Parts: sequence; C-alpha cells; structure tokens
Amino acid sequence: MIAPDRPRRSALYLPASNAKAIAKARTLPADVVILDLEDAVAPEAKAEARAAAVAAVREGGFGDREVVIRVNGRATEWGADDLTAVATSGADAILVPKVDGPEDIAAYDAALSTEPVATQLWAMIETCASVSKLSEIAASAATTRLSLFVMGTNDLAKEMCARLTPERTPFLPILSLAVAAARAHGVALLDGVCNEFRDCDIFRAEAEQGLLFGFDGKTVIHPDQITPCNGVFSPSEEELRWADAVIHAFTLPDNAGKGVIKVEGKMVELLHLDQAKRLTAVAAQIAARG
Ligand code: COA
Ligand code: MG
Repeated sequence: MIAPDRPRRSALYLPASNAKAIAKARTLPADVVILDLEDAVAPEAKAEARAAAVAAVREGGFGDREVVIRVNGRATEWGADDLTAVATSGADAILVPKVDGPEDIAAYDAALSTEPVATQLWAMIETCASVSKLSEIAASAATTRLSLFVMGTNDLAKEMCARLTPERTPFLPILSLAVAAARAHGVALLDGVCNEFRDCDIFRAEAEQGLLFGFDGKTVIHPDQITPCNGVFSPSEEELRWADAVIHAFTLPDNAGKGVIKVEGKMVELLHLDQAKRLTAVAAQIAARG
C-alpha cells in the first residue's frame, strides 16, 4: 500500500513549556510541529505546558504545518488530564507515547472520541513490548484514527540497554520491521531523532539512513536540523525526471494495457508507475509550499 502523499519530511519537537520555541516554530520550515508535553517537560511544568500547547493550537499561525501535541502516557499521573485538554484543541494529531500493543491504541482512540474526526492518532514506537506487536498495532489503523508511527529511538535504547551510536546497528531490524508493519496497513512513519544537533554531517547521514529504510521523514529537535532533513526527504531532480519518464511511457499507445515496459533500457512495472505518481504528488505539494 502507498503511504499518504502529504510531505512530512521534518517534524520538529519542542517543549510546549517553551513559549519562545513555539513562536519560533511558526516561522521555521518544518512540515510538522510537535508540541511536547512528555519527555521534554519537567514534572513541575506539566500543567503549564498543557495549557500552553492547547492555547498555541487554538491561536494558530502555523500555516501549512501540521500541528501535533505529544501527550503523557495514559498510565502516568498527567495522562488523563492531557487527553481531556487536547481532545478539543483542534490539533491535527495527538501523538501518544510508550504504546505496547493494540489495546493502547484502542484506549487512546476511545478517549479521543469527542475530537473532530480530522484529528489523527499518531503512536510512538519506543518500547520493547511493542516490537513483537508491530503488525497488530499497525492493523488497528483499520478501526481507529491511527495513521502514523514515530520511532522513539532514545527510549528504545534505554529499555533495551543498547547503545545509540550514529550507525544505529542494534535498531536496524526494528526500523525495518516498523516500516514493513506500517506500510502493510497504510500507516505513515517518521524516523527517530538524532541527538547530535551540533553535527550536521552526523545528522545528514542518519537522515539518509532513514530515507533508505523507507521513512516518510524524520523527527528533529533543533532548527538547524530542519533544512538538511527537508533536503534528504525531498524527491531529487533525478528522481522526478525518472518519474516523469515512467508516467509518460505508460501513456504511449504502444504501451497501452501493458503491465511491464522498458524505459531508458530498464524494466518498469505498474508498481513503478504508482511510485512515480506518489513522488510527483509529494513534489507538487512541496513546491506549493515554496
Ligand atoms: N524548536 C523551536 N525553536 C528552537 C528549538 C526547537 N526545538 N530548539 C532551539 N530553538 C531555538 C532557541 O530558542 C534559539 O532561539 P533564538 O535564536 O531566538 O534565541 C535558537 O533556536 C537556537 O537555539 P540553541 O541555543 O542552539 O539551542 P538551545 O541550547 O537553546 O536548546 C535544546 C537546545 C536541545 C535544549 C533544544 O533544541 C530543545 O529543546 N529541543 C527540543 C527537545 C525536545 O522537544 N525533545 C523531546 C523529543 S526527543
Ligand atoms: Mg521518550
């Protein structure tokens, strides 16, 4: 199944308790803004951050960017109040942390039943328990608002007692499994963050690894990571030229009704036509954003 065409190259996290960061996010070129109430907010600032996130969404000013609120988990002391507060905020999505299985998705979905239907449910994939249930979690997209996975590699590293190095070796099988599970059920997905926000080369290499694995985009933590991230996850000129050639080739009378054809000396099937159309649609939306 092909993921939604909406560009989600970069998704910027910021602590919802940081008013300056919220104001700045309205001017930054991230495709998605994630107002965090969870890990980036200290316990004593939770209530203030919750109110600030809801107020920021209501105030608007984010333009084409999707605005998402990450809540505290339903098992925490803040979870229920967060869900009640965000349930009428009008955020594009609610991002829920530490999902262990489909029962968590069902519970969050039920709690969001008063939200406008347009509000999606996004899930962090970051617990050891979730790894063996990725398919079941993704499959719940058919009966709930679930539409996107966000990899939480920092929490996964903590739970697994694994080291999060730039190569991310211990996590590569999990990244692949998450992509396959998500794609099987039409769920989009964003890669985890790169903590090295002062080193653009490390960031770019990690973003390219995420692109290779099939992610739609990557979560970022600092403004300096947005432009390189958008660059990595935007279709390249060569990809777009190839997509145009494939789309054109399938319109030629000689190729009418064929499932497999030859374009510039390479085999091309209808599946490549689907990929070409998706790439072109994403590129058109990126171009419309300027
Ligand atoms: N969103 C919006 N603006 C941000 C930002 C973010 N995530 N991170 C930094 N900025 C702003 C700063 O406010 C500062 O603005 P100014 O130039 O107007 O003063 C500017 O970008 C430069 O920031 P800098 O001094 O380089 O970084 P910092 O030391 O202030 O902050 C972090 C570093 C990591 C603490 C900060 O980037 C951050 O909080 N990131 C998000 C963390 C998060 O949400 N984690 C949860 C998910 S993993
Ligand atoms: Mg976390």
